Amino acid sequence: MANRPALHAEIVGWGKYVPSKVLTNEDLAKSVDTSDEWIKSRTGIAERHIADPKEASSHLATKAARAAIAVADINPRQIDLVIVATVTPDYLFPSVACQVQDALGIPNAAAFDLNAGCTGFIYALSVASRLIAAGAHKLALVIGAETLSRVLDWQDRTTCVLFGDGAGAVLLQASEAPAGLLGCTLGADGSGADLLQLPAGGSRRPACEDTVKNRQHYLKMNGPEVYRFAVDAMVRASRAVIEQTGVLMDDVELVIPHQANVRIIQSAVKALKLPPEKVFTNLARYGNTSAASVPIALCEAVEQGLVKQGDHVVLVGFGAGLTWGAALVQWGAPLPVKLPFWKLALYHAVRPLALARSTSHRAALRARTIISRVDLNGHKP
Ligand code: COA
Repeated sequence: MANRPALHAEIVGWGKYVPSKVLTNEDLAKSVDTSDEWIKSRTGIAERHIADPKEASSHLATKAARAAIAVADINPRQIDLVIVATVTPDYLFPSVACQVQDALGIPNAAAFDLNAGCTGFIYALSVASRLIAAGAHKLALVIGAETLSRVLDWQDRTTCVLFGDGAGAVLLQASEAPAGLLGCTLGADGSGADLLQLPAGGSRRPACEDTVKNRQHYLKMNGPEVYRFAVDAMVRASRAVIEQTGVLMDDVELVIPHQANVRIIQSAVKALKLPPEKVFTNLARYGNTSAASVPIALCEAVEQGLVKQGDHVVLVGFGAGLTWGAALVQWGAPLPVKLPFWKLALYHAVRPLALARSTSHRAALRARTIISRVDLNGHKP
């Protein structure tokens, strides 16, 4: 077999979407025993976005993906892999990724969801990058999308103040240029499963009257224990990825941590001896959006001009599982030129086209079912 050049997964597109409804700390203080002062001083969060009742994770994911596709300025039909990291899928099955694939009108892409808690996006980035490096795929859409507001207990002040809804996406393209994921470290410790979980609704405790009565369809968390784990996990994962790649911490231009609690970030930054200006935070406006937090933050950092071609960026996170992970990315793409009006209009036109394609596919599937039923009946003895 002829030697093929080494392939890298370069980030060529990025996008985010957050629902328009904003819930402030003051709003929350009207329904639970909390205060703006408590939430800000203990977490750094001022407000979060909440999905409209008609919006599910797939809708948020699709909108973030469309933004990433527009930045990359590519034909979505070329995408051959869709991974959605989420803990709040629309359904247990089918996957959010399949719904995104359908909504975007991408034919024949492999599509699946990945659940690694709030570390999900870093896991998904690693999987997609390695599939590209192996030559299995050429253009991958990697999304983190969550509607955590649907699984929060709005009577539990210890959790409902922390989370928000949103989605972030990147497009990875196979490239011979040495850019993209330079290294990645992933880990898990299932013995910490009970520290952060959604107890019911799965195969262990299916939904029943008792699970509803006991509020087991809501997220449960041991905050202080998760806090202790989080600081340690972020420090260890960041150090491990730096060691793995041989890039010096001084040569890292930006660190984008999972946005859960500003105190967790500050403790990790202190332990890593990082100058605070090298660490990106935006959790004041979004809260913890779980698997969406890192891609939303990455997208905003790029939009604010904090990431330039050639920069080394560390993405680091932790989450339910327990899981943790860090990725070191070398930014390859220049900031995009503003798309001309006609091209933006074209990207908007793609939406009704994808819808028409999906509707005709569904109609064809239904027609085939009816025909096969008639056929079976005709052959009945
Ligand atoms: N408003 C007001 N008081 C609150 C409150 C709220 N929203 N939530 C908790 N409190 C109270 C507690 O009831 C407790 O009162 P008590 O001392 O009378 O019992 C007090 O504040 C301190 O609670 P504690 O849990 O010790 O606070 P904390 O400083 O550890 O902060 C978290 C709580 C949840 C903010 C913090 O533990 C945390 O961020 N943990 C990690 C969570 C996380 O990152 N999860 C996502 C993982 S991906």
